[in-house]
Amino acid sequence: MGSRRRWHRGPRAARPWGFCWLFFGLFLRGSACPAACKCSPARIWCKEPGAGMTAFPVLLGNRADLENITEIYIANQRELAAINDNDVAMYTGLKNLTVVDSGLNFVSVQAFRKNIKLHYINLSRNKLSSLSKKPFRHLNLSHLILSDNPFQCSCEIMWIKILQDFLPEDTQDLYCINDNKMKITLSDMQITNCGLPTANLSTTNLTVLEGNDVTLYCDTTGIPTPNVSWDTSYIVSKTLIETNIHSAALMLENITVLDNKRLITCVAENMVGEDQASVELVVHFPPQITYMDDPVLDHHWCIPFTVRGNPMPKLQWYYEGAILNESEYIWSKIHERNNRSEYHGCLQLDSPTHIYNGRYTLLAENIYGSHNHTIFAHFMLFPGVGEETITDPGFYEYDITSIKNGDTTDNRTEITSTDVFPEGNEDSVTVYVVVGIAALVCTGLVIMLLILKFGRHSKFGIKGYVLFHKIPLDG
Ligand SMILES: *[C@@H]1O[C@H](CO)[C@@H](O)[C@H](O)[C@H]1NC(C)=O
Ligand SMILES: *[C@@H]1O[C@H](CO)[C@@H](O)[C@H](O)[C@H]1NC(C)=O
Ligand SMILES: *[C@@H]1O[C@H](CO)[C@@H](O)[C@H](O)[C@H]1NC(C)=O
Ligand SMILES: *[C@@H]1O[C@H](CO)[C@@H](O)[C@H](O)[C@H]1NC(C)=O
Ligand SMILES: *[C@@H]1O[C@H](CO)[C@@H](O)[C@H](O)[C@H]1NC(C)=O
Ligand SMILES: *[C@@H]1O[C@H](CO)[C@@H](O)[C@H](O)[C@H]1NC(C)=O
Ligand SMILES: *[C@@H]1O[C@H](CO)[C@@H](O)[C@H](O)[C@H]1NC(C)=O
Ligand SMILES: *[C@@H]1O[C@H](CO)[C@@H](O)[C@H](O)[C@H]1NC(C)=O
Ligand SMILES: *[C@@H]1O[C@H](CO)[C@@H](O)[C@H](O)[C@H]1NC(C)=O
Repeated sequence: MGSRRRWHRGPRAARPWGFCWLFFGLFLRGSACPAACKCSPARIWCKEPGAGMTAFPVLLGNRADLENITEIYIANQRELAAINDNDVAMYTGLKNLTVVDSGLNFVSVQAFRKNIKLHYINLSRNKLSSLSKKPFRHLNLSHLILSDNPFQCSCEIMWIKILQDFLPEDTQDLYCINDNKMKITLSDMQITNCGLPTANLSTTNLTVLEGNDVTLYCDTTGIPTPNVSWDTSYIVSKTLIETNIHSAALMLENITVLDNKRLITCVAENMVGEDQASVELVVHFPPQITYMDDPVLDHHWCIPFTVRGNPMPKLQWYYEGAILNESEYIWSKIHERNNRSEYHGCLQLDSPTHIYNGRYTLLAENIYGSHNHTIFAHFMLFPGVGEETITDPGFYEYDITSIKNGDTTDNRTEITSTDVFPEGNEDSVTVYVVVGIAALVCTGLVIMLLILKFGRHSKFGIKGYVLFHKIPLDG
């Protein structure tokens, strides 16, 4: 407890005592710090010599607490020999790992598989005589410090020499001990039959037709002989792999368009390093109109369609069998394309009149073939009502200004005039009704006044009222 306190708020401040105890409480409940170490929510720090630490420090705690550990620092632990498969796995938020001046002689290939945030590893002054590249392969490290380890000169550590050649500014005291027990600097290490592998794909342009099969070959070189693998994790088509000593074949069957533009990668790997070669799969197929429907009114009128095809099909519209020349009033537009080579679009029509009714045909064409589809389009009509019925008179007025096709002027004028008339007629009927009602109300009021006047002066008030009241009803 005493040592742990140093990691929390300074005890000099009187006020934070309560806070401190709460903090300790939470911390103790969440995790237990190994005896040889000091712990804070973000760090584990073990450097007391002779603490007798024989294994990697394991914090007992829930996952959220362990995720907050970003740094582990271990020093002077002579009996700590290994970082095993699951020693570091729980610290998923770990960024800096230092194990120095200790007895480390083994790092498991799986050790850092869950520590993808690791970017600084310092394993200086340990007892490593060999170290595989594999534990570090998937990490994006800014530092890997391996100074002062008694490495044996061998192909196994050739990758460290290569790494050093790549990062010359990152000078470390790297050496190895050769068969004659001589210490030589790593950059001078020469090992025969020990080199980086290469991978070569048989094709650089993989264009196939949907539904077809294709076989890809990957040739590799390298001593030690590299393992070949294919990364087909994004490929949906059925795959079959055959591996020989220096090459591997990948068969793709019944290739689907879902694999269009996907990368296929061949990886050659030996202990020295790896090489890979990739090719983009291009899946071609003839055009197909998968959807086409009656016009809908959105911003403009739209005859919606979906076309698929790769390469992208050329689209041509026909109206009543004749080529439809696109203009600023009728034009074809693709609104959306997706990664399955599907194109969603519209034949857009700017305020079409009924003279635009008719057969619309879409022809989609690419080098592999063509496909067409026809619909019959009705514009401006209530569904199921005769052609003369007008949906929205406003459209026709708008039409006159927008459609400039000469020979249809007559039709439009006709419609516009019939259009305006009922509108005005309706208005005047309304006026008549209003005036009539007003007149009736006025008459009623006058009669009421008369009745009141007469009623007050007449000796036959009730009779008079009845009499006068009846007059407007009869008249
Ligand atoms: C872990 O970090 C998060 C975010 O920084 C914080 O909210 C949480 O309290 C921390 N947990 C512990 C145990 O410190
Ligand atoms: C972690 O390592 C980086 C890189 O060397 C360093 O800049 C940073 O200060 C280290 N973080 C901690 C908490 O020690
Ligand atoms: C590695 O850690 C040791 C011990 O903390 C330190 O002396 C050394 O500077 C570190 N090396 C690098 C390159 O950070
Ligand atoms: C890989 O391809 C290159 C260029 O085509 C060629 O020079 C090289 O020999 C090939 N390597 C293998 C292993 O096939
Ligand atoms: C790939 O092959 C296809 C068909 O053989 C051809 O049309 C295309 O131009 C080629 N592309 C490249 C980049 O060579
Ligand atoms: C190829 O795949 C399609 C669907 O992607 C399937 O309908 C067809 O039956 C398959 N053909 C063969 C020969 O497996
Ligand atoms: C296509 O895009 C969707 C998301 O838009 C994505 O989920 C899917 O993986 C993509 N497919 C291909 C073959 O790229
Ligand atoms: C190659 O594959 C074998 C068997 O799967 C495996 O034991 C070996 O470690 C692999 N070598 C490399 C360098 O990945
Ligand atoms: C479309 O334009 C072409 C030439 O640009 C013309 O020959 C053809 O008659 C036009 N079609 C229609 C329906 O106007």
